[in-house]
Amino acid sequence: MKTLVAYFSQTGNTKRVAEAIYGEIPGEKDIKALDELEDLEGYDLIFYGFPIQAGNPAKDAGEFLSGRCSGKKMALFTTHGAPEDAERVKPWLDNVRNLVAQEGAELLGVFDCQGEVAQAIVDFLLSSDDPERRRYGQETAEAKGLPDEARLERARSFAREIIA
Ligand SMILES: Cc1cc2nc3c(=O)[nH]c(=O)nc-3n(C[C@H](O)[C@H](O)[C@H](O)COP(=O)(O)O)c2cc1C
Repeated sequence: MKTLVAYFSQTGNTKRVAEAIYGEIPGEKDIKALDELEDLEGYDLIFYGFPIQAGNPAKDAGEFLSGRCSGKKMALFTTHGAPEDAERVKPWLDNVRNLVAQEGAELLGVFDCQGEVAQAIVDFLLSSDDPERRRYGQETAEAKGLPDEARLERARSFAREIIA
């Protein structure tokens, strides 16, 4: 049994989740950033993670899977600036599931958690004319320092469940 943890991460949040998951995996395993990854061959199980950008899996991470994951056992993980229980997160997670469903992979589970948002984006939202965007700005400002230890522990528990 050989397991891969692969991730795309611009500011390190998804990478921290990837490392937490990796730490729980027994046996033969690799952890790779997307830019170190050539293909997904030779692995029995693949954890694949990325941030949500504009309501979708980050483009590079989504595009990489195209034509590469048919028939593979996959577990996905993602981070986003919105709180986990925000209504708007639900359709984003549908987009995450669709990413592998349309490629014909076997999806074992999806983990998501809130992650800190780059200050330029928080400032952009907070200075918007649109009150809803300003509210999103407030929420993302509160994501500072996330994922925290509680979220990383949830990621570890997700990994254990998938492996079991
Ligand atoms: C271009 C861009 C678009 C983003 N769009 C969203 C979004 O639609 N919803 C959201 O909750 N967070 C959004 N975010 C915030 C990231 O998903 C969040 O900060 C994530 O934890 C970053 O992960 P990383 O550090 O692994 O890159 C966006 C970030 C960037 C840079």
